[in-house]
Amino acid sequence: MTVSVNLTVNGKPASASVDSRTLLVHLLRDQLHLTGTHVGCDTAQCGACTVHLNGRAVKSCSMLAVQANGAAITTIEGLSNQNGGKGDKMHPMQEAFRDCHGLQCGFCTPGMVMSACQLLADNPKPTEAEIRAGLEGNICRCTGYHNIVRAVQQAAAQM
Ligand code: FES
Ligand code: FES
Repeated sequence: MTVSVNLTVNGKPASASVDSRTLLVHLLRDQLHLTGTHVGCDTAQCGACTVHLNGRAVKSCSMLAVQANGAAITTIEGLSNQNGGKGDKMHPMQEAFRDCHGLQCGFCTPGMVMSACQLLADNPKPTEAEIRAGLEGNICRCTGYHNIVRAVQQAAAQM
């Protein structure tokens, strides 16, 4: 069954016709062409697909597109817009990941950044242990996590 979905994505209205089984991540990537949101697994474990839905981090592979009807979504492409700019200046979390070498291949990075922003929204001054626990839903195969933790610590100091 095809259904119509209306939502706000990165501050702009978006509409699409989707199959009722379409996952939110596929709506974002395949129909809205926001390919910064990645698919790294099919078991809701890796966190590469993390976006913000009404201000909360969600794994967009774990919900249907129709469940996002009427919601406000922020993807990694829209994160810089939340920094008071027009997308031309990186969010402090993105800058921190760059400065601290918190990425290697970059596949996990969009989801990791979105989750890290949620972490600081909930806990602006987390301990190292709290950062590691807060990002346990996001898997990185490259970095060993140490520089990711440093990046979140830098962002926490700046935000
Ligand atoms: Fe969503 Fe892995 S693709 S958790
Ligand atoms: Fe490669 Fe995290 S940087 S998976």
